[in-house]
Amino acid sequence: MTDTPGSNNDHWYDPPEDLARNAHIPDYEAVYAQAQRDPEAFWAERARELEWFQPWEKVLDDSQAPFYRWFIGGKTNIAHNALDRHIGTWRANKVALIWEGEPGDVRSFSYWRMWQEVNRFANILRSMGVRKGDTVTIYMGRVPELVFAMLACAKIGAVHSVVYGGFSEQALADRIEDSKSRVLVTCDGAWLRGKIVPLKDTVDEAVRRSPIVEHIIVVRRTGQDVYMESGRDYWYHDLRALPIAATRAETEVMDSEDPLFILYTSGTTGKPKGVLHTHGGYQVYVSTTLKWVFDLKDEDRWWCAADPGWITGHSYIVYAPLILGATSFMYEGAPTHPYPNRWWKLIEYYGITILYTAPTAIRGLMRFGDAWPSRHDLSSLRLLGSVGEPINPEAWRWYYEVIGRSRCPIMDTWWQTETGGFMITPLPSVRLKPGSATRPFPGIEVDIVDEAGNPVPPGVDGMLVIKKPWPAMLRTVYGDPQRYIDQYWSAYRKQGWYLAGDSARRDKDGYIWIIGRIDDVIKVSGYRLGTAEIESGLVSHPAVAEAAVIGVPDEIKGNAIYAYCLLAKGYTVTPTLEQELKEHVRHEVGPIAVPARIEFLESLPKTRSGKIMRRVLKARAMGLPEGDVSTMEE
Ligand code: WT7
Repeated sequence: MTDTPGSNNDHWYDPPEDLARNAHIPDYEAVYAQAQRDPEAFWAERARELEWFQPWEKVLDDSQAPFYRWFIGGKTNIAHNALDRHIGTWRANKVALIWEGEPGDVRSFSYWRMWQEVNRFANILRSMGVRKGDTVTIYMGRVPELVFAMLACAKIGAVHSVVYGGFSEQALADRIEDSKSRVLVTCDGAWLRGKIVPLKDTVDEAVRRSPIVEHIIVVRRTGQDVYMESGRDYWYHDLRALPIAATRAETEVMDSEDPLFILYTSGTTGKPKGVLHTHGGYQVYVSTTLKWVFDLKDEDRWWCAADPGWITGHSYIVYAPLILGATSFMYEGAPTHPYPNRWWKLIEYYGITILYTAPTAIRGLMRFGDAWPSRHDLSSLRLLGSVGEPINPEAWRWYYEVIGRSRCPIMDTWWQTETGGFMITPLPSVRLKPGSATRPFPGIEVDIVDEAGNPVPPGVDGMLVIKKPWPAMLRTVYGDPQRYIDQYWSAYRKQGWYLAGDSARRDKDGYIWIIGRIDDVIKVSGYRLGTAEIESGLVSHPAVAEAAVIGVPDEIKGNAIYAYCLLAKGYTVTPTLEQELKEHVRHEVGPIAVPARIEFLESLPKTRSGKIMRRVLKARAMGLPEGDVSTMEE
């Protein structure tokens, strides 16, 4: 990573002319200007492309800001738009999902077949007493049943809370507890790098810690023996064979503002926040953004290589592609299994036309050299995408030249769990600069400001703010509305702007360059982790009295976690302690949170008011000057 964001901002990459001309939106500027003149009319027009059981009376209600409401009075259900409405049309026969497992097994589902599977799942959930407004926790590997379970929840008006399968028992237990789920859906295991991730074992331990779960549905994937508690645990294939699992199920009529899902994400302090999204605005926003940014057409084979357990997967594997009636591809396992050409082979074999992934994956694959992708015919590709963290220009150029063969524009999409969909991103007609997410999506107004709220001049870092509400914005932090206000709306309360938590700068052409988080959030391999979560994990070990965690730049992962620990009285550093603590974090938080390095200190740098000065630790770790330490405790 030799380039820094913005250092190479004079080199333009033009989109292929025919691609730009034939795109859904051939003229970004015109559409942006139109949306800006009357955002509500603009969003209403987008919403009319979907089906509503009853039309809305008002597009936006800002009377209780920042608790904005969209499409008030509208009745709908995102599962109706994603599946039901396709069933009476030719699309019933179109392939909705092609799936390949890591061991090489393949399954595919037409819209008709997926609709039936979702109906079966919906009936099973109903038979377990799940009703409108109840939450269901989903903790699974990347298998089709995960998609079915999410859509089944939406269909019956239940709120899904998907917990990424890489989280540990404690993280899962906390999320079960916070969302108050009585029903949980899981798998016996998941395939990853040729090994089984024992998901059901983790669930058993999590449910022991959070015993509010009454029923567990277990999808068989890996086939090893797992513990099944009688009266609590049910095999999905057994339930599916029962008469209750009929292939027709009624779709619940939902209000636009009824909750659709909770997704937990890391914040500055304390436990993860349950970001809440709703049916109405979310369906409009995710489908519009996918259609316009990736120019999704009926002929495309779309591959969003994220995990459905993250917002990227919720919006752009599950909901948006189905609403658009697209054909999606999903792959279960690791990109390097059994060899580093797995992805390139998949692209060639399935004729993928659009690939959407993260810089960390690109850097990880780049490491294996050009020979692996060069062996494959990747000419089906027409667009590429990136998300999760700033893409360094070196990785951008490799992706562009070696994977896209210099024919495919890269859509670098900046957004967040909270925003629901793409916010700052090129459209196919926008000229690109490697490392810049370019311009805001039509209808979105952003700015880069100083602490007082004044716009900063080009080339100067500032806070990224969003100045107008948008349909897929989070509605609240589940169970904690005060935290919603404090976290996102208090920094610029007077102006009524949303604080994204990222710093950014604009260049002289008005292009936006995201720099990184301004808070104590570390992005590791594109995953968002709070320093507080990892520190709590460390401190829960008896040997650790206090811990501080920082992110240090890493070639592949973007950031690596360094931890500094103060030992508890009576404990001394032993040769195995570091390894033991790493194991402990793996269990308490999850494999993605394991520190790359743990150091034991006699004291931690703190302010006089007792706050840990992580920036001082970071400066020391990187061999940089410590900066202003005037507030440091003696
Ligand atoms: C944070 C949000 C949005 C889905 C995945 C991440 C960083 C995201 C980009 C990008 C630079 C990016 C920001 C943001 N981020 N996309 N294209 N360029 N930074 O969702 O876990 O909620 O993380 O990811 O720092 O605030 P998330």
